[in-house]
Amino acid sequence: MIIAVDGPTASGKGTISKALAAHFGLPHLDTGLLYRAVGRQVALNDGDPDDAADALAACDFPDSLLADPALRSEETGGLASRVSVHPAVRQALYERQRAFARQPGGAVLDGRDIGTVIAPDAEVKLFVTASVQARAMRRWLEMRDRELDLELREIEADIAARDKRDIERKDAPLRAAADAFILDTSGLGKEAAIAAAIEAVEQAL
Ligand code: C5P
Repeated sequence: MIIAVDGPTASGKGTISKALAAHFGLPHLDTGLLYRAVGRQVALNDGDPDDAADALAACDFPDSLLADPALRSEETGGLASRVSVHPAVRQALYERQRAFARQPGGAVLDGRDIGTVIAPDAEVKLFVTASVQARAMRRWLEMRDRELDLELREIEADIAARDKRDIERKDAPLRAAADAFILDTSGLGKEAAIAAAIEAVEQAL
């Protein structure tokens, strides 16, 4: 069973995917980490994320890099969003993701194009979304916990810019697959969102 979970940044798709993987006993891949790893490699080499050749060379990284805490930073997220518009980068990461999805027994993958491009034949597709305001507020609370002081307005603007880039890119833009279940988490707490996702998967099976 493949469970494809797509959605914009800070929608709750990561938390939901982890919980689904634990609940159904499946391995989980956060595909955003792959794009983040490429962004990070470009930054470490002082490359330009808008230069496709730089970004492509950076696609060849060991799996161990995915555990690097630096991948989780806002800065790396922004770089990931910039390298991910290059079709050559998406192509270079394609087989890694397909191989993960094809494991015997299945898998949960989350990202932007899992239900549309990476695993269009997934048994279950969820599109997890929330308003920009709700997502910015979550990010702001997360940052406050990490003692990072950022203006809510700044976070909102960053989220809106990232959405725009993901939605408007030509190759594999962020959108819900026609057969995806849409889960809006704007008014939901963590536990309620997880419960709704588990119910949606059970209904789809
Ligand atoms: O999900 P996360 O915020 O970690 O993803 C970082 C960036 O990587 C996204 O803004 C998006 O541009 C890109 N990405 C993508 N396709 C995926 C996963 C992530 O283009 N499947």
